Amino acid sequence: MKECPKLVELGRRQFLGRGALAAAGAAAVTAVPSGAARAALPAARVDYPTSRLANIKDLKVNEPMPIHYPDMDSPGVLVKLGARVPGGAGPDGDLVAYSTLCPHKGYPLAYDAKDRTLNCPGHFSRFDCEKEGQQVWGHATQNLPMFRLTVDAKGDISAVGADELIYGRTRNVL
Ligand code: FES
Repeated sequence: MKECPKLVELGRRQFLGRGALAAAGAAAVTAVPSGAARAALPAARVDYPTSRLANIKDLKVNEPMPIHYPDMDSPGVLVKLGARVPGGAGPDGDLVAYSTLCPHKGYPLAYDAKDRTLNCPGHFSRFDCEKEGQQVWGHATQNLPMFRLTVDAKGDISAVGADELIYGRTRNVL
């Protein structure tokens, strides 16, 4: 079959015209904001609240205390492990706090005092409380959020931040 030269030329022009429009649209969508628009973007840094959780005297070694941080919708535990650990706070470096929402699908985690892990009843992920919440087993794809702690001269323990994204949130501080 012989092609009509006029139709072929028309087709080429339409193709090129639409291609140029698509390229211009893509450029507009991916353009990096400049000047005032860039200045209006929110800063990436999050200001965490400081929240008093307990006093050292309130804790017994290897007995987790339920807490909430950074707000009441975010449950966690505060544990005095009895031996210095990475990320541990306090005079003995043994105070740690973690979210108890599993990072996989948000099931509530349970503390196992035998091996000092937090364990998920949903799909059996396990997190090591002596290694900054490192995942040691299961379906989760991130470590457990660890709440960073400070301890003042009176022994009051406060949470001051979190090092991973808490389950179900796009940002930890809402
Ligand atoms: Fe915890 Fe799936 S919800 S492993």
